[in-house]
Order: sequence, then structure tokens, then C-alpha cells
Amino acid sequence: MSQILQAVRGMNDILPDEASFWESFEEVIRAWLKGYGYRPIRLPVVEPTPLFKRAIGEVTDIVEKEMYSFIDSLNGDPLTLRPEGTAGCVRAVIEHNLIARQPQRLYYMGQMYRHERPQKGRYRQFHQVGVEALGFAGPDIDAEMILMGARLWGDLGLEDIELQLNSLGQAAERANHRAALITYFEEHADVLDDDAKRRLHTNPLRILDTKNPAMQALCGDAPRLIDYLGAESLAHFEGVQRVLRDAGIPFTINPRLVRGLDYYNLTVFEWVTRKLGAQGTVCAGGRYDGLVEQLGGKPAPACGFAMGVERLIALIKEAGGEPAVPAPDVYLVHQGEAASRLAFRVAEGLRDQGIDVLLHCGGGSFKSQMKKADGSGAGFAVIIGDDEAATGEVQLKTLREAGVEQRKLKVDDLATAIIGQIIDSDEEE
Ligand code: HAM
Repeated sequence: MSQILQAVRGMNDILPDEASFWESFEEVIRAWLKGYGYRPIRLPVVEPTPLFKRAIGEVTDIVEKEMYSFIDSLNGDPLTLRPEGTAGCVRAVIEHNLIARQPQRLYYMGQMYRHERPQKGRYRQFHQVGVEALGFAGPDIDAEMILMGARLWGDLGLEDIELQLNSLGQAAERANHRAALITYFEEHADVLDDDAKRRLHTNPLRILDTKNPAMQALCGDAPRLIDYLGAESLAHFEGVQRVLRDAGIPFTINPRLVRGLDYYNLTVFEWVTRKLGAQGTVCAGGRYDGLVEQLGGKPAPACGFAMGVERLIALIKEAGGEPAVPAPDVYLVHQGEAASRLAFRVAEGLRDQGIDVLLHCGGGSFKSQMKKADGSGAGFAVIIGDDEAATGEVQLKTLREAGVEQRKLKVDDLATAIIGQIIDSDEEE
């Protein structure tokens, strides 16, 4: 026997019951995004490797150790499976000159790839819904993005997702803070672990992210970026907070929220739940005013966020959300050659009227077909045998309601009868 092949570790199949759940989730997402004027953009899964190095930063976990990078053996191009969507989105916006005339509100959904250690809520192929607004400078768009999140949690029936907020200021402010941080850590070099020592001169801010208990106190007393922010940065931060307070959205300012990608400035935020264990961040983002210019475009401010779809779906299930298993309206049972030919005609005719039909395929007795009809969850069975094929009349059987007689109907009257009965039973409910 040949060996059974398996999916790549950390990359999951999403089987039909689960995928139906995802489709209803995506419907909620699309309606929500439309409500805020966002338009879709569809981007490649593979991009040139230098794009991510420049956008995300050479000295980040993602670029240092999580990217699926390879050389295209056919032409030698260095390529990478996208670890996130912002870089590709900005590349596309510049390449197609999308913000020359007006700012853009864009969104994308799809697979991302990071070579992390797989665990609950952390996968090597995962899905994001990404939202990017390019060409907006004020704190209003940052705040609106946060309001969007709050509304979505409501739309999805999710509670207890907490908002953490911080400001990373501007590059010059961060440089001053960084210098102060390096001096501070150098003064306490004896407490630093190997990871921190390695990062001291490349990315000292990331040291604050450490999980090492022995370094918590040291990091707690470290110089705070907020104390290095100038008046303009503080005003922007205050502008965001004002809208949140007006909207009644609670938040915690977390000075240690630094994000793992280098392109951010000013506002950064994360939505976090305690219900998913260690991987509790369901949504994260912030402002990235320098990225468009850094990737070769005319300077333009921008802001965005992305949500982890696997984590949100896990949370919806945790809150008792049921996967929606779609059932057809009609299961079409037929036997015999003439009946089968009529069945195809009837099925297409019903679909013309907007009725979903599962046409039985594969033969079998009436009895076994009726069993399948029951199991399909359909509301009705339409039954066609030799007699029906000869007279052009078919049997309509109601499957989900007791006490409704099986009826014989002309093919032309079938759709009206089914639609009428669906409306009647909807009204009764
Ligand atoms: P990120 O924080 O790297 O940001 O990822 C956003 C979200 O994707 C995370 O909060 C998490 O829910 C989900 N996620 C990340 N890695 C994994 C994984 N390995 N498995 C499952 N879920 C994961 C970004 O990617 C930025 N591009 C967000 C952004 C958009 N900033 C501005 N615009």
C-alpha cells in the first residue's frame, strides 16, 4: 500500500462543517466592513522577500526566524510566503498608485504563514482579516478602527475582549527613549538574560516584551516611552482616547505594548481575551505613517489592524456559537431512466426559482434514497418514479413537519407550492 500523506505540521484542513462556520463568519465580517466603507483588495500569497525585510524589519522574530522564504528555482528570485498582509497591501497601493487622488479604506482576508511552534491558537498557516486605511493622518481613523473592533465583538456575540492601547510616538522620540533604555539596561547588565543581551543594541524595546520572570522587575522600572513623547504625539494619543471615552469603550494603557513589527508609530493597540490561554490576542494593529515612503511611495500616513480568524472562531465556539450546517431546500429522489431525465429538468427549474436542490446521484432504491433525503436536512423531498415521469406529475413530501400529506403536483406548480410552504412555516415560527 502507498504511504498516506499528511498535511504540513501547523497547517490545518478546514473540513466542510467547520468551513460552513467560517463562511457564516465571513458574511458577518463583510457586512461589518461594508458598514464602515471598506473595500476589498486581493493580494498575492507570495511576495519578494526584500519586501518583508524592509517593511517588518530585519531584527524582528518574524523576519529572523519565522518566514517561509525560498529561491524560485526557475528564475532565482528570492520569495516569501506572506507572514502578514500590511507589507503586500502597501506594495500594491504604491504599485497601482491607489492613493494619488484620495485616501483608501481597504481590507483583505486570507492565509498567512509563520514558522512558529504550533500550539492551540498558533499555527504555521493561519488566517487574518486585515483592515488598512491609507492617506489619513488624524487620530480619528485610529479611533474609528478601534470602534470597529468593539462593534464586531458585539456582532459576533463575544464578550470580555479587552482593549490595550499605547503610543509609540515618532522615530526621533523613540530614538531618545531607546538611548535611555540601552543606558539603563547596560547599568543592569548582570540581570539580563542571553536573549536580552543579544537584543540590547539591536532591538532593546523588545526586551520589555520578555516573559522571563527574573527580568520583570527590571523591565517594570525601565524608562517609559510615554515620558519621551513630544506635544504633538501626546495630542494624537489624547485624540484617540477622547473618541474612545465618548463612545464608552473601556481601555487600558499598556506602556509595554510594543508590537513585534517595526513599522508602527504613534497609536498601537491589541484586543486580548483571557479565554484562549496563551494565545489571547485576537486583533492587533496601529499606525504606520512611515511605511509607504519606506517602500518607495510618496509619503502617506496610514493605520490598520489584523484579526486572527482561528482565534476568533475558537472564541465564538467557546461562547456557544453553533456551526451553521447549510441544508438544501429539496432532496430530489428519482428512479428509472425517464425519471432521471425529468429529475434533472425539475432540479434546474427549481434552482431557477432560487430553491436549493440536492439531486440524488448514484442510484439506489427509493427507500435508501429517502433515508439520504432525511439525513440531508432538506425541508422537502421531491419524488419521481416511472409513473410520475409518464404523467409529468411529481410527489412532494414534507420532511420536517408532521401531519402534512404527501402531494402530487404538476412540475410547473412545484416551485410555487414549495415557496408557499416555506413562507407558511416561517410565519408559524
Ligand atoms: P500581528 O500582531 O502579527 O499583526 O498579527 C495579527 C493577529 O494575527 C494576531 O493578533 C493574531 O490574532 C493573529 N496571528 C498572528 N500569528 C498567528 C499564528 N501563528 N497563528 C494564529 N494566529 C496568528 C499583523 O500581522 C499586522 N499586519 C497587523 C496590522 C495591519 N497592522 C497594521 N495593519
